[in-house]
Amino acid sequence: SFEKYENVLLEEPEEGIAVLTVNRPKALNALNLATLQDIGDALREVKGRDDIRVLIVTGAGPKSFVAGADIKEMQNDNVTEALKLSKLAHSSFGEIEHLPQFVIAAVNGYALGGGCELASSCDMRIGSTTAKVGQPETGLGIIPGFGGTQRLTRLVGRDKAKEMIATCDMIDAKEAYRIGLFDEIAEPDELMDKAKDIAHKVMKNAPLSVARAKYSVDRGADLPLDVAVDLESQIWAEMFGTEDQKEGMAGFVEKRPKHFTGK
Ligand code: HXC
Repeated sequence: SFEKYENVLLEEPEEGIAVLTVNRPKALNALNLATLQDIGDALREVKGRDDIRVLIVTGAGPKSFVAGADIKEMQNDNVTEALKLSKLAHSSFGEIEHLPQFVIAAVNGYALGGGCELASSCDMRIGSTTAKVGQPETGLGIIPGFGGTQRLTRLVGRDKAKEMIATCDMIDAKEAYRIGLFDEIAEPDELMDKAKDIAHKVMKNAPLSVARAKYSVDRGADLPLDVAVDLESQIWAEMFGTEDQKEGMAGFVEKRPKHFTGK
């Protein structure tokens, strides 16, 4: 791993898969300003690396993915400082949607507040059977500020999001799966293998297609349907200008394996 970052580990990719680990285990990986900055910087680094095809985001230690924003650090924030914190998190988490790579959250334990929001920013979520998910902010006199009122709502619907936020209930992995917050569940010792299995499936496919489809889904979700389908048409047509479209279709017609280059 390149140890540039104090609060995250970004391992060298193996077979195109890199793992980004939020690494403050003594605080259950709570997100202080420095950690949010490191997450953003690491993601910007991943963006520029074409040897990374899939990124897995997880938390250090057996107990926690991310236990939220750092309550001790923000406790005495004024309104201006609080706004700065939320904007920094939005800028860092927003990088995930800007990545051409596919991003899988491997939720290995507590995903509370900012932790649930970090997981919600990823392209999909696999939860350990030991995971616990919740938005405890209203119990702290605040509201979710790292996307919890927005991305969580888009994942589980308005009623469930409001229920989670208003009750502060910690839900288990089964319930998170039932409401569509987790896409898959795995035993703790199988969590990373499961994430890597999915990563390998993604990597069989044309990199630009995966990247542009991700963009079309994410961008289109916030547009009126007529505008969104037009965006899809544009991106669909754009793919016919790529080498991988030629390769993908020739491979099918010639009944042979495809060799995608990302061009
Ligand atoms: C700062 C935290 C922390 C957090 C845990 N720790 N979560 N420090 N901020 N969010 C620290 C504890 O203070 C403790 O340090 C150490 O990590 C271990 O935690 P314990 O509480 O002793 O562990 P345990 O009893 O097992 O309980 C685990 C837990 C609990 C249920 C996850 O730690 C907890 O409730 N944490 C807070 C969860 C939360 O409310 N998150 C939402 C934050 S608000 P010491 O030094 O005492 O041993 C948020 C808002 C985002 O995320 C948007 C803002 C704009």
